[in-house]
Amino acid sequence: MNRKDLLDQVIKDLNGIVGNGYDPAVRINEKFFQAAHSWFSYVWWLLTEAPGLRKNRQEIQEFMDLPFLKWQAETHRQLGRLERLKFPGLIEPLKQALLTELPYSSNEPTLLLSLGCGTMEVERQLAEAMTIRNLSIPMVIIGIDNSLQIEDEAAQNLNGLASRGVVDFQIIKQVDHENLTILCQKTKEAAKIQLAICNTDLFSLQDLPEGLFDMVYHSRLKHHIKMNNKTHLDELIEKLCACKAFEFDDYFSVPNFIFPSFITWKWPLTLNGAILSYLRDASKKELKGQANDRWALKFFNLGFYLRTLTKAQNNQPPRNIGERLNALARF
Ligand SMILES: C[S@@+](CC[C@H](N)C(=O)[O-])C[C@H]1O[C@@H](n2cnc3c(N)ncnc32)[C@H](O)[C@@H]1O
Repeated sequence: MNRKDLLDQVIKDLNGIVGNGYDPAVRINEKFFQAAHSWFSYVWWLLTEAPGLRKNRQEIQEFMDLPFLKWQAETHRQLGRLERLKFPGLIEPLKQALLTELPYSSNEPTLLLSLGCGTMEVERQLAEAMTIRNLSIPMVIIGIDNSLQIEDEAAQNLNGLASRGVVDFQIIKQVDHENLTILCQKTKEAAKIQLAICNTDLFSLQDLPEGLFDMVYHSRLKHHIKMNNKTHLDELIEKLCACKAFEFDDYFSVPNFIFPSFITWKWPLTLNGAILSYLRDASKKELKGQANDRWALKFFNLGFYLRTLTKAQNNQPPRNIGERLNALARF
């Protein structure tokens, strides 16, 4: 489908759900895609519409947040393609932080939780980097995402690594004692990273036992979370993580609108995700205002930030996986 046909089809689909409870998101997205037909109308939209949206940013939903299965899948694929590019390295700071903090000396399985994992591109790049550097530890990563076709998209994205025998990938219906026990056994026996995806809302994990995961992290998720749930997300992470947690996202800055507009122009769904998410992002000032003694904050030049929570040092974590799984069995 060429760019114009895609834009027309998207607008038609948006019109099809007018009045179904998705306003004002439908109106916002329709105007965006109308403007994306030409550079002139797009720049005009940036100058005249975007500032007003920024002021009411709780009203913004990206096209990916609306209930279009086929478009959600396409948006995930396009984001994955972009994140694979060496430059600008859209998930590099998070990948490096995870690589630095993994407990390489441990023989016990390390449990990681990735919230809003999308196609598990972060995990794909992490596993690839570990293979290149010959770093091998028993490790299970559970990805959580509530997008409906995400399991198929993740399976496709990880197919290359799985067929080379670097990782095993599975879909799990819930994060429970049985599934985690099997995955922990598999990572020890097969000496392979076990990646699993669970299609559920992340807030459904709130009853899991404290400190179940060594590390908990998320990438480009925070801006999708409603204002009144952002603190709730931090609390959930503080509860579930035993050692370190990472929050990785973009912050609001004017240059963020210029560069991505050029690189994503060819792919209007990614352009929509990038630009509307920048409009929802917290500013540097807001992030600094939220800083506290538990979460350290670091900014990166390309408009990214990383918040880090340290509950215990990675070289002395509460490594007894048996106890943690037993606690899960009691739930
Ligand atoms: C922009 S994507 C980022 C995907 C991935 N972390 C990455 O960086 O490539 C945000 C993801 O968060 C997911 N998401 C948003 N709200 C969620 C929730 N409440 N529970 C689970 N997943 C959620 C979306 O479905 C989407 O896949």
